[in-house]
Amino acid sequence: MKVGVIGAGTMGSGIAQAFAQSAEVETVYLCDIKQEFAEGGKARIAKGLNGRVAKGKMTQEAADEIINKIQAGLNTQCVDADLIVEAALEVMGVKQKTFKELQEEIVKNPNCIYASNTSSLSITEISKPLNTPVIGMHFFNPAPVMKLVEVNAGYTTPQEDVAKVVEIAEKLGKTPVQVKEAPGFVVNRILIPMINEGIFILHEGTSSIEGIDTAMKLGANHPMGPLELGDLVGLDICLYIMETLYDETDDSKYRPCPLLRKMVRANHLGRKTGIGFYRYNEDGTKTPVDELGF
Ligand code: 3HC
Repeated sequence: MKVGVIGAGTMGSGIAQAFAQSAEVETVYLCDIKQEFAEGGKARIAKGLNGRVAKGKMTQEAADEIINKIQAGLNTQCVDADLIVEAALEVMGVKQKTFKELQEEIVKNPNCIYASNTSSLSITEISKPLNTPVIGMHFFNPAPVMKLVEVNAGYTTPQEDVAKVVEIAEKLGKTPVQVKEAPGFVVNRILIPMINEGIFILHEGTSSIEGIDTAMKLGANHPMGPLELGDLVGLDICLYIMETLYDETDDSKYRPCPLLRKMVRANHLGRKTGIGFYRYNEDGTKTPVDELGF
């Protein structure tokens, strides 16, 4: 199977690695709007794999085999793809335009399946201007490790595509869960409001950054606290999902915390900008951000 992954950011490169790790996958086209962005995604994957080699968790040969399957380039390389997974910007127009170009100008395989990794946008609306409707194939960060894939069917998604994507997810060693179209699907509908609530608790001065994270790790057995998880997901993505939940439902329970908005405006987006609720140090450690005053 040949897979095109559109977008070489955190999710796109993680998804590319998840596919390249599978014996079922021959080639992964990791694509972005500029060659250097795609190369950057591939370099990030190589860095992660080399780190595992250095720790003795993987052989150099196994790491090389994964990396050699990944071809970094522009979307135009996806000519013979069997599956496209789009993980580009969470902007409806961008997604629609990207799929339109792929379907009408680039991909020559008539049986190609078009999937979006969107975290909360409507699959039905993404499909609206397209000849071939898309399906949601939603991975979780870090994509090479997290076991779940939400398979999201839009109103027009053919049932046979759902069955094929379920089978592909299983072949990757993931557990697929089928979900009908709804804002935030299952996981983000629950998880992102929880992160937002953690930010409200901080904003109100109820506890400190580390206090909130420790409480949820030890009191609810979560692997990460809500604030460090927000930093991992990206605070811009968290805000975007809250806004989508709010806009789609008109329900005030989904209002984003003002502190989240302020941090996104300051470009303090979490791990990807080196600072969010924590400052991420060169040596891999992290320290809570004192300037927040909590
Ligand atoms: N890429 C690849 N592998 C990674 C990785 C990454 N970014 N981060 C960790 N790993 C691997 C490690 O190499 C390690 O593998 P090994 O056991 O073979 O050595 C394994 O994952 C475990 O990592 P660590 O031992 O370093 O750390 P932890 O045991 O603490 O696990 C974690 C790290 C898996 C990130 C865990 O803390 C966790 O599950 N956190 C919650 C993550 C979560 O909730 N994600 C969902 C976010 S929501 C989302 O993505 C949806 C989107 O639409 C917003």
